[in-house]
Amino acid sequence: MNNMKNNIVYLFIIVVLFASCNEHKKEITQVVDKIPNVKNTQESEAYTLLKNQCYACHSINAPSHDDIIAPPMIAVKKRYLRMYRDKEEFVEAVSKWAINPIEENAIMRGAVSQFKVMPKQSFNEAELRKIAEYMFDNELEKPDWFMAHEKEMHGGGKGRGMGRKFD
Ligand code: HEC
Repeated sequence: MNNMKNNIVYLFIIVVLFASCNEHKKEITQVVDKIPNVKNTQESEAYTLLKNQCYACHSINAPSHDDIIAPPMIAVKKRYLRMYRDKEEFVEAVSKWAINPIEENAIMRGAVSQFKVMPKQSFNEAELRKIAEYMFDNELEKPDWFMAHEKEMHGGGKGRGMGRKFD
């Protein structure tokens, strides 16, 4: 009889432990869900790198088109995808560029004349590849002004626009 009581107590402990474990998991999932497009820790690391190292200039928070100092990353992605459709080529091109941005290699000519060539900085190549992979695999944020600007500049035509301004 005593034995059975013990068993019930053990069972109770196990159930409680299991439930609290699940609760914890739920919390983590909820936190990750708040970051856009982030599905796993590898991607969340890459997204943090992108935010910290690139969004300072390729901002998604600039209040208007007149306040930006570089094209938004979604425009860079669109432009590079037109030239580099394959993931490996895309990753190679973006990370090569960021390691050594020199004007004659730039493909966003309009952006170079509008903002001047991207300043050279000491990025880590492995981190750049992670950033570029993230850019290829995920939808990037559009700044609030971007869609309105698109419509205004390009009549909202399908398949055009987005980044064309900076070509
Ligand atoms: C100090 C500001 C600054 C930072 C930080 C920055 N960029 Fe840029 N970037 C620019 C500007 C300005 C341009 C537009 C002119 C040009 O194309 O060179 C640009 C253009 C680009 C282009 C298009 C180049 C082309 O072919 O014309 C790519 C790709 C790019 N950036 C990637 C990155 C990545 C990846 C990061 C983060 C690792 C990053 N940039 C961080 C300022 C910056």
